[in-house]
Amino acid sequence: MSAVFKSMEAGFEPMTEDRLDAVVEIERRAYGHPWTRGNFADSLRTGYQARLLCAGETVLGYFVAMQGVDEVHLLNITVDPAYQGQGWGRVMLDALALWSRAQGAQWLWLEVRTSNVRAQQVYLQYGYRRVGERKNYYPADQGREDAIVMSYKL
Ligand SMILES: CC(C)(COP(=O)(O)OP(=O)(O)OC[C@H]1O[C@@H](n2cnc3c(N)ncnc32)[C@H](O)[C@@H]1OP(=O)(O)O)[C@@H](O)C(=O)NCCC(=O)NCCS
Repeated sequence: MSAVFKSMEAGFEPMTEDRLDAVVEIERRAYGHPWTRGNFADSLRTGYQARLLCAGETVLGYFVAMQGVDEVHLLNITVDPAYQGQGWGRVMLDALALWSRAQGAQWLWLEVRTSNVRAQQVYLQYGYRRVGERKNYYPADQGREDAIVMSYKL
């Protein structure tokens, strides 16, 4: 049984190299085709915005975002499967939007697998709109899978 945390118990911390064990462990449980430790380490070295959502010692989730000229591109957003469906994804989308506005960005962008209906519903409910697709964007068990592109006006 996982603990249930209240929102006041949770806060954001920087994702740093020494926290990547916990990140990679969640990533492997959350995806069929997870990012590798190297993908996260490269993101940190490149200076992408990478935050952990923590409740005490427990990492509930994380996001990684890349800043462009007047837009921010969300590269990874993940809630530990043990804590999904409790509102933490929305907490991270709020934090991402706040940070992006503070950078002067006008738009948020993301890609999501066509098969990931759950995440699409979370984004749509938040206010993201479907704006296009990218063919064969993701590796899949057999061949490749298309991405749906979504954007959010800040
Ligand atoms: C997608 C993900 C980040 C969402 O985080 P989450 O904590 O599970 O989502 P939340 O509990 O904050 O839900 C956000 C909203 O979507 C709604 N929602 C959640 N699951 C839903 C579903 N299956 N169908 C419809 N709506 C749903 C919730 O009701 C909530 O709305 P509310 O705040 O009005 O109640 C998380 O499920 C996850 O990490 N999934 C695996 C990794 C992944 O797919 N990442 C995205 C890759 S693009």
